[in-house]
Amino acid sequence: MPYFASLIDWKLPSISRTKTKIATAVTIEDLAKLSRKKVPKVVFDYVEGSALDEVSYKKSIEAFTRVEFNANSLRDVSKIDTSVEIFGKKVDLPIFFAPTGYTRLMHHVGEPAVAAVAEKNNLVYSLSTMGTTSPSELAAEVPGVRRWFQLYVMKNRENSLSIINQAKDAGFEALILTIDTPVAGIRIRDMRNGLTIPPKIRFATVLAIARKPMWWINLFTTKKLEFAAFKGWNKPMVELAAAIFDPSTKFEDLIWLQSVWNGPIIVKGVQNVEDAKKLAGMGVNGIILSNHGGRQLDRGPIPLEILPEVVAAVGNKVDIYIDGAVMSGQDAYAAVALGAKAVFIGRAYLYGIMAGGERGVERVVEILKRDFVNTMALTGARNIAEVQQIGATLRSR
Ligand SMILES: Cc1cc2nc3c(=O)[nH]c(=O)nc-3n(C[C@H](O)[C@H](O)[C@H](O)COP(=O)(O)O)c2cc1C
Repeated sequence: MPYFASLIDWKLPSISRTKTKIATAVTIEDLAKLSRKKVPKVVFDYVEGSALDEVSYKKSIEAFTRVEFNANSLRDVSKIDTSVEIFGKKVDLPIFFAPTGYTRLMHHVGEPAVAAVAEKNNLVYSLSTMGTTSPSELAAEVPGVRRWFQLYVMKNRENSLSIINQAKDAGFEALILTIDTPVAGIRIRDMRNGLTIPPKIRFATVLAIARKPMWWINLFTTKKLEFAAFKGWNKPMVELAAAIFDPSTKFEDLIWLQSVWNGPIIVKGVQNVEDAKKLAGMGVNGIILSNHGGRQLDRGPIPLEILPEVVAAVGNKVDIYIDGAVMSGQDAYAAVALGAKAVFIGRAYLYGIMAGGERGVERVVEILKRDFVNTMALTGARNIAEVQQIGATLRSR
């Protein structure tokens, strides 16, 4: 073969351009850009947006850039083990799927496609109360996935109990109680866009259909898009939220929850050390430091900033997880090095599913894993215990 021929690296164009674009996406941002082209603006804004001025979310992104890693050389990093043990069972990577509502709005394959990727990669999948797939449907479609169920305590406790029992019967291992949502956050983008589930066909929609025909064809030709737990509801989301979220929920309700769920309970949306201490004292199994990806209280504490203090206070009593703005394996490494047991991703996998369904989510995991492993090797960490021994420094602003 002539020398120049060996330099040619042409790939035959794939039948599907989307497949090629997903395979060649190098970062989560690449997938986000691609997803913007695939779904109507109302859907993309719903995923990307946060509450009010969106300050919390911007600050969460910025906080990750202030983490400084410790480099160690000559430590034989030829074998890297990213696994971590959760409730006595191994997971392959400390990056889990956060609960997100309405996943079938982003792509018709919905929650089961994300769960299938979790199963394939031995990761934890969390199903939201606001899911478009019910606990039993998810279990039937992806029986092998390690699954946790996210609960909003509803105004009507009987409704809460019924969904908790469904999750129990469907083999969900743990319950995630979200506490940062006594009322719905104010999402300016969704209000401006008039977001409803399912989307209403208005005059402007016709134009939207012309722009993103595939998304609409899928919407019209696949199973009805609705909340699995609230079938028949098609009011604006704020009204649904007002009917579901119970602003009177308090610490004592956790005792009720502990009496009806006899498995691990993880509390999500913890935003200060005092609450973390109180929850640890009440015997919960884990806490997730989270501001709901900036989608609830805007201008509140940034999870990464309070992580070291919370780890110092209750790290020996409960598992501490974190989420918000994890967009790379380096971000995940930073959180684990600062003491988190694992991180949860929300938007990152939603960009993947919007860009290309299950394959898009798979690509998200590939990208995050690639960066996580690479950062381990470059810091000289061969396993997660060493990531935490080596640690990291969060520089102040
Ligand atoms: C579109 C969307 C829907 C969400 N729905 C829920 C939900 O139903 N329950 C919940 O506890 N958290 C929900 N969250 C918050 C996530 O669980 C997680 O806290 C957040 O996405 C983390 O930030 P990140 O998106 O920057 O990774 C949602 C987030 C997004 C982006």
